[in-house]
Amino acid sequence: MSVSGQPTSTVYSHPKYYAIAYKWNTTAECNLLESCFKTYRDGNVKTLLDIGCGAGRHLFELARRGYRTTGIDPQPEMVAFVKTGQRNTKLPVTVTQGDLRTIPVDGPFDAAICLMDTFRFLLSNQDIVQHFRDVAKRLTPGGLYVTDFWIPMKWDQIANEMYQWEQTEGDTTVKVFYLQHPETIDPVTQTFEDELVFTVEEDGTTQEIRGGRTRTRLIMPQEFHSLVEASGAFDLVETLAEFDLEKPLDASSGTWRMISVLKKR
Ligand SMILES: C[S@@+](CC[C@H](N)C(=O)[O-])C[C@H]1O[C@@H](n2cnc3c(N)ncnc32)[C@H](O)[C@@H]1O
Repeated sequence: MSVSGQPTSTVYSHPKYYAIAYKWNTTAECNLLESCFKTYRDGNVKTLLDIGCGAGRHLFELARRGYRTTGIDPQPEMVAFVKTGQRNTKLPVTVTQGDLRTIPVDGPFDAAICLMDTFRFLLSNQDIVQHFRDVAKRLTPGGLYVTDFWIPMKWDQIANEMYQWEQTEGDTTVKVFYLQHPETIDPVTQTFEDELVFTVEEDGTTQEIRGGRTRTRLIMPQEFHSLVEASGAFDLVETLAEFDLEKPLDASSGTWRMISVLKKR
């Protein structure tokens, strides 16, 4: 459950397995963030807010690279996991329980991020516009906000995609199954249910963690442009198909994600 009462997947109560399952692209993601800091803020970024920080993969990687990072996440298990990581590493990382809709820290921060589809927990236009204003308020002048969320690869597959991958660390393998349920589409609110299932192999045993269905929002690229504009808080300076400034989002991208770089007005 998020702080605002919205149900979330119970896989997020298993930060150790989440951290293994999602570690694969962290270096490339942080490289892109640093490229954005150089390109759009002359490298003048020292502090960063991670909204929906999960198990803290970006918090720790960026702290190792010299940034002071702050995370918020509604899941107490994620918050506790990050706190333990901070105690063990002594890196400049702080974390607080918090929600996309009620950000409980003031900053100001030089940049903010909301990565790996967390942004789609904002279900209404009103919530999205308000969120942009709330984030902008917590940024220094010219502050950057980088978002990354799923978009449909093909219009005839809207909310009808599935992805599978696996990651291993030591003796633990986590197999991830992400599934969208097209029969749950609400065409008016543009929301649908999706689901995460982890199969964890550890110490010779296998357990399945079914996260349960959660309702998320479909945000189309042009709609995102308009919502940014409507907020009056940011300019959209870049839309990317991958974590690479050389890979802009265009018709040939064939991507399942849209990465956006916003600059505070
Ligand atoms: C897919 S994970 C992404 C975590 C992290 N950003 C990453 O890239 O690894 C989604 C995270 O969003 C959090 N979350 C769920 N609902 C949220 C909300 N309403 N506000 C903020 N975070 C939320 C979950 O607890 C989970 O940690």
